[in-house]
Amino acid sequence: MSSTAGSAPTLIPRHIAIIMDGNNRYGKAHGLRRGEGHLAGKDALDPIVEYCVETKIEILTVFAFSSENWQRPPSEVALLMQLLSLTITEQMPRMKKYGIRLRFIGDRQQLSSELQEQMADAEAKTANYNAMTLVIAISYGGQWDIAYAAQQLAERVQSGQLQAEAVDETSLGQYVQLADAPAVDMLIRTGGEYRLSNFLLWQSAYAELFFTPTLWPNFTSTELAQMIDEFGKRQRRFGKTSEQIIVGDSL
Ligand code: IPE
Ligand code: IPE
Ligand code: MG
Repeated sequence: MSSTAGSAPTLIPRHIAIIMDGNNRYGKAHGLRRGEGHLAGKDALDPIVEYCVETKIEILTVFAFSSENWQRPPSEVALLMQLLSLTITEQMPRMKKYGIRLRFIGDRQQLSSELQEQMADAEAKTANYNAMTLVIAISYGGQWDIAYAAQQLAERVQSGQLQAEAVDETSLGQYVQLADAPAVDMLIRTGGEYRLSNFLLWQSAYAELFFTPTLWPNFTSTELAQMIDEFGKRQRRFGKTSEQIIVGDSL
């Protein structure tokens, strides 16, 4: 489906990132038991992924579980881990069908060895698919990401492979997660909160931000299409003046 049919051609983002928030409020609003909102959230991803493939988005990164989410009640954490495993199992045939490469970012050492194996297996099996890349952020925090990159650079300095003065945006940027991918163009947060909650801090430095009150399980490709339309109308200046921006050169 395409809600943009008939309108003037617009700029398409290369990289969309989504903070999928609002599952528990959805669950409460529908009288579900605690945790069941997450089940609805799991299924909301499929049409969004399909729409992104159709729209030729190169990379879609979704926030499934944050570094801070470990602080939730153990029963909820356990359920979320189960659902993540189920998500990967369910996504595999879809990845094959659509030619989507599946990747994960986050601190894997915090995860069970079973889940780590499942993730590595999914990444290996889909490594050659190239219609789109779907990145699932699990046990991910932007501060962890930057600190981990700094640690790797520090090791290179310590071993004499790098001068301390060579540490800059470019060298650090080579070690953050998704260093090989384009920067985030559009960062969407569902669920009505106006914060980043430690998601992709480095990679979203110049992202266009979109906030919607829609709870994640209710988020549809129609709303995403509207946001992509709006994205195409925004002028991305990257610090320059309006006059310096040439139409078609703002991505
Ligand atoms: C987002 O939904 C999913 C995760 C954080 C894992 P929430 O569980 O945060 O739902 P709300 O924001 O409380 O409604
Ligand atoms: C952000 O949502 C993390 C995910 C969607 C996975 P949270 O619900 O954890 O964010 P806060 O705690 O309200 O900032
Ligand atoms: Mg939340």
